[in-house]
Amino acid sequence: MIIAVDGPTASGKGTIARALAAHFGLPHLDTGLLYRAVGVNAVRLGGDPDDADEALAGCAFDDALLADEHLRSETAGGLASRASRHPLVRAALLERQRAFAGQPGGAVLDGRDIGTVIAPEAEAKLYVTASVGARAARRFNEMRLRGENVTLEEIAADLASRDARDSQRAVAPLRPADDAFLLDTSDLTAGAAAAAAIAAVAARL
Ligand code: C5P
Repeated sequence: MIIAVDGPTASGKGTIARALAAHFGLPHLDTGLLYRAVGVNAVRLGGDPDDADEALAGCAFDDALLADEHLRSETAGGLASRASRHPLVRAALLERQRAFAGQPGGAVLDGRDIGTVIAPEAEAKLYVTASVGARAARRFNEMRLRGENVTLEEIAADLASRDARDSQRAVAPLRPADDAFLLDTSDLTAGAAAAAAIAAVAARL
């Protein structure tokens, strides 16, 4: 069974994907981390993620980079969003994601285009959303806990610009698959959102 979990930044899709993987006993791939690694690696190589060739050079990252905490920063998220616009970058990461999805027992993948491009054949597709206000508040609390000095307004502006870039790009834009179950987590705790996702997937089996 393949479970595809898509949605914008800070919608709760990562938490939901991990809960689904634990519940159904499936391996999980956070595909955003791959794009983050590309963006960060491109910059480390002296490149600019807005440039297609320089972003593509970032695709040859060492897998050890995936465990680097820096990948989880807002900076890395922004670099990922810029690098992910290029068709050649998306093509370079495609096989790796399809191979993960194609494991014999199935898998859970979360990202932006899992249900639409990577695994359109997935048995269960979830599209997780939340209001910009709810997502900004979550991100704000996470960053304050890490001791980062940001304002709620800065975070909301950053989320809005990343949403716009991810939804308006020409290749694999962020959008729900036609057959996706829509889950709005704005007013749900993480536990309630995970329970709703598990129930929705179980109903499709
Ligand atoms: O989900 P996460 O915030 O880690 O993703 C970082 C960026 O990587 C997103 O803003 C998006 O531009 C890109 N991404 C993508 N396709 C995916 C996963 C992430 O384009 N499947």
